[in-house]
Amino acid sequence: MHYPWWYVPHLTSPMLIAFIAVVHVLVSHYAVGGGLFLFVETRHAHRTSNREYLDYLHRHARFFVLLTVVFGAITGVGIWWTIGLASPLATEVLIHTFVFGWAMEYVFFVIELAAAFLFLYFWGRVTPRTHVLFAGVYAFAAWVSLVLITGITGFMLNSGNWPERGGFWNGFFNPQFAPQVLARTGGSLLLASMYVYFHASICSPSSALREIIGRRSARPALLGAVLIVAGGAGWFANLPESSVAALMKAPALNIFMAILFAVTVAVFAMLYFGPYRNPAWLTPGFGVLFLMFGIVAVTVGEFVREAVRKPYIVHNVVMSSNILASEIPGHRAAGFLESGPWTRALIAAKFPQVMDGTRIDERRLLDLPPPQRIEAGEILFMHHCNDCHATDTGLSAIPHVTIGWAPEMIHDVVTSPELFHHYMPPFAGTPEESQVLAEWIESVRPPFPAGMRFGPASAEGGE
Ligand code: HEC
Repeated sequence: MHYPWWYVPHLTSPMLIAFIAVVHVLVSHYAVGGGLFLFVETRHAHRTSNREYLDYLHRHARFFVLLTVVFGAITGVGIWWTIGLASPLATEVLIHTFVFGWAMEYVFFVIELAAAFLFLYFWGRVTPRTHVLFAGVYAFAAWVSLVLITGITGFMLNSGNWPERGGFWNGFFNPQFAPQVLARTGGSLLLASMYVYFHASICSPSSALREIIGRRSARPALLGAVLIVAGGAGWFANLPESSVAALMKAPALNIFMAILFAVTVAVFAMLYFGPYRNPAWLTPGFGVLFLMFGIVAVTVGEFVREAVRKPYIVHNVVMSSNILASEIPGHRAAGFLESGPWTRALIAAKFPQVMDGTRIDERRLLDLPPPQRIEAGEILFMHHCNDCHATDTGLSAIPHVTIGWAPEMIHDVVTSPELFHHYMPPFAGTPEESQVLAEWIESVRPPFPAGMRFGPASAEGGE
């Protein structure tokens, strides 16, 4: 069954999820790695009775709590809102499968918040031992919540044998689980050092202290970089074949992979020659630039990880067209519009003449006059294709990708989108439905660009 869902003009709704999710990931990885930083470094500062370092850590803890607890929590809830509106079916499947996991996640999140507040507000008011314990509890709970959520995001990319076997643990320990836990733990360590360098280069006036911070945070950052590379290799090795094919095929992904590679090399070099070998390099310019590189790497990496899921939202389970893979044959027999209570109600309200009792008589769609057929085609588009294509202008806008196409080409792409690009879900409707959808596309498709010295006879811009 397909739900009605949000169409975000020009951008498409998955892109909106991507924006919010990337911002969240940038903060949530720092929430994990930064917790470990505060735990290890507060313990070190207490042990060496380094007052100046403790004062700095106190300032850092305030920055940390404000950014991770407040901003991180807001963007985290933002993800729930957007996925619920943009991908209701996938959200439903994830909740049904992982409700126990989310309950655990919630428990650890509460522990995390409580520990963060205790750590910050009881600064200097409890024994060093208790104080460090708060940080330790925070760091542990934050990492466990990373592990829990990674089981679920890994499942979306490669659901392994879950479609046949089902069950919580089969879904949770999917082939992407271990590689992504490695990569995300590494990402947390590296990103946390970047935030620390950024903050310290601006907020810690003494150069001696900056050197201590630079040196001490370089090792976890290097370890993080190694874990990212190891986890990334595991990620690639455990990708479904469709994702590897998408990586090879889509030009945008080719470019992103090249950027990711270049930025990773740059980050390694900056880390090694900067804080590791020359801690005195820790100037505000370095701090800002290093964090920018980190943000670019994470953004591009997350984008690639999300993009290769197509044509699925949950691999082999939920299609990007917001129906279950298992529903396709049924929808082809009964009709896509007929199979969703909301599309059926919409058609009944707009075109009562196609209804046979409470059912849509698919054949009557073709008896509608052309303007109404086109309108029915647009309704189909808005429920079957709009997850990836804007309607007018914007991301992969349908008029832009069909410039100058002949009617037969449009007909072919509508009936077998998966043969044009394997990352498009197959069409899940009747021949009558593909016909009206093709008619809508023909109505918005622009003519072949004029003024070219080759091209179809209609190249002057006419039909
Ligand atoms: C999972 C996302 C997704 C869905 C859903 C989807 N497409 Fe696509 N489609 C793509 C991508 C990615 C491309 C290639 C990039 C581009 O041209 O924007 C593409 C390309 C196209 C093209 C241009 C073909 C070419 O060879 O360049 C057409 C036409 C098209 N899609 C029509 C449709 C129609 C009609 C539907 C609904 C039945 C649909 N798409 C559903 C992702 C999708």
